[in-house]
Amino acid sequence: MISPNSVDHLLQVAVIEDVVGDYVKLKRAGSRYKGNCPFHDEKTPSFVVTPNMGIYKCFGCQKGGNSIQFMMDIDNLTFTEAARQLAKRYGIDLVETNSENKDAEMQSQREKENLQAANDFALEFFQEQLHRSEEGKTVAMPYFRERGYTPETIKYWNLGFSPSGWDDFYQKAKKLGYSEEFLLSAGLIKQRDKDGSYYDLFRNRVIFPLLGVTGKVVGFAGRIMGKVDKAPKYVNSPETLLYKKSDFLFALFQAKGTIRKEDKAYLMEGYTDVMTLHQSGITNAVASSGTALTPGQIKLIKRFTDNTTIIYDGDTAGMKASMRGINLLLEGGLNVRVVPMPEGEDPDSYCKKLGPEGFKSYLDQNEQNFITFKAKLLLEGTQNDPLKKSDAIRDIIESVSLIGDPLKRDVLIKELEHIFDISSDLIYTELGKELRKVQQNEQKQLLDEVTQIINHIQPENEVIRTAQLTDIYQEKALLRLLLLYGGKPFSEGKNVADFILDEYSKEELFQFKHEETKYIIKHILDHYDSRNWLPLEFFTRSLDSKIVSFAADIFSEDNKLSTAFESNLIYVKQQEDNFMQEIIDVFLHLRRTKIEELIIEEQKKFNDPEENPEDILEFIVYLNTKKLELAKQIGAVVTRY
Ligand code: CTP
Ligand code: MN
Repeated sequence: MISPNSVDHLLQVAVIEDVVGDYVKLKRAGSRYKGNCPFHDEKTPSFVVTPNMGIYKCFGCQKGGNSIQFMMDIDNLTFTEAARQLAKRYGIDLVETNSENKDAEMQSQREKENLQAANDFALEFFQEQLHRSEEGKTVAMPYFRERGYTPETIKYWNLGFSPSGWDDFYQKAKKLGYSEEFLLSAGLIKQRDKDGSYYDLFRNRVIFPLLGVTGKVVGFAGRIMGKVDKAPKYVNSPETLLYKKSDFLFALFQAKGTIRKEDKAYLMEGYTDVMTLHQSGITNAVASSGTALTPGQIKLIKRFTDNTTIIYDGDTAGMKASMRGINLLLEGGLNVRVVPMPEGEDPDSYCKKLGPEGFKSYLDQNEQNFITFKAKLLLEGTQNDPLKKSDAIRDIIESVSLIGDPLKRDVLIKELEHIFDISSDLIYTELGKELRKVQQNEQKQLLDEVTQIINHIQPENEVIRTAQLTDIYQEKALLRLLLLYGGKPFSEGKNVADFILDEYSKEELFQFKHEETKYIIKHILDHYDSRNWLPLEFFTRSLDSKIVSFAADIFSEDNKLSTAFESNLIYVKQQEDNFMQEIIDVFLHLRRTKIEELIIEEQKKFNDPEENPEDILEFIVYLNTKKLELAKQIGAVVTRY
């Protein structure tokens, strides 16, 4: 763990406007900066950086936090990775404290560094061989050029060449002092059993470096240049501490910016497919490197977008892989579309055939949702055989049932209805079966049950709706007031935080019920010292990203109000004057929500033969009078938070 002092120091040096400024064009606006949010597409800037608080906040997509959080968000790093990266950039030594497994961690860290050094050296070596050696210039370079890669592309992907000798790489590395141990564990060399001598893994192949998501080289793929029949087409680095095949997507580093911007990733099979597409201006393409898609790869995509389009090779293997991939992606919560390639083509060959513009319009015209794709494929050559047709429908419904979002399912069912010309009732019946089978559908059943009971006893179910709609806002409102005004005096020897936290802890009725708000109030209670209320900065500088982004949110909300009324100080003042009234209002609302929940809970008991209906009724009547009392206190003016 990185010590809190170190983090604090880091946050003071790695000032937010600087850190963000590397990624976003910022314009000064008073004491703050504004820019276009890097996390979502926008034309008018709603992304605000507040230097004196050290935070950023986007009012469009709601992302926000401090410098470390920004690095976590923009590069999808963990807290530690982000802190280390910033520390490196600003030349700060982080003190890492703790723990029992510190030695093990240091050990694996050292190993990673050594592996990285070996890979970095190999990257340089292979490029040098391509650009400077005789063999590279006369054999490998022409190979790339003949395949249509421009000199810029060759540089951009750091393409290389491994010479045809048995141990050119090993000899050079040894001369420079790289130890055999690490060359071996990086998989760059191998050892002969018979005499213990070493030889290179990559020989006489063109080299595609594999970069991890942060741009470091984690491994290599070497492609044979001539005929494939004698040796495998590709030789790949083995798995190491830096490279896990199932958690790797080729070109994610190069593609992630565009994927995020366009909110869409093209997923293909091969390295050459991806490079050709990028060269043609389609820079949101990544490859699964020929293996069956894995859940780890899907998670990687999901960090950057929810929308994938599969473009696999136009052969039987590619079709089969697409079918498997569709279900996995749907299960991973992604939206799936497909562009089929003509028989015998892969994205690489077909893009070269049609040219960049032609290929782009082919993509636009042939992109289809997975249902259309599956339907065509499954019905091909079946001559409208009704049995085959129902098999196809069932197969597609199985895919649809993997989608968690019922709204999305509905849209796709419309499509299915249209393609197969069958009634949606039938589809829903089938889907119902699938859903029960696949996910047991607990939640929906529960909801049905409750609605049924409510409809039975109480014609209008207004109550549930208001309860569900408002209380997260009430919980947040209370936290907001606490963070903003907690330090203000409340009464003799007590500040506002004392009052709020006492009230909160005193009554079971007021306890928060949402994970997010519960988490934050627990954190506050853990750090609470009644004589010394923590300033808001304490929370924006917390080590805990949930706390930071919540605090940033609250601070910026407040700020937004003050900016909107910058010239009109009166408004802000009024708000400050009213905060006690606000706090009391929030408590009242919270309590009412709780009572409404209890009433619903109680109503459910009518269905339980063990319960005495008169007792239930009595309790409901009691709760209702409490509710009325509260309603009076809350008054006619219903404040919504
Ligand atoms: N692959 C592999 N090992 C092999 C064959 C394939 O690792 N022996 C992986 C590679 O990641 C390759 C992908 O599967 O990029 C797709 O395979 P394929 O379509 O055969 O290769 P391409 O990349 O299309 O290569 P080329 O265009 O040169 O045929
Ligand atoms: Mn291919």
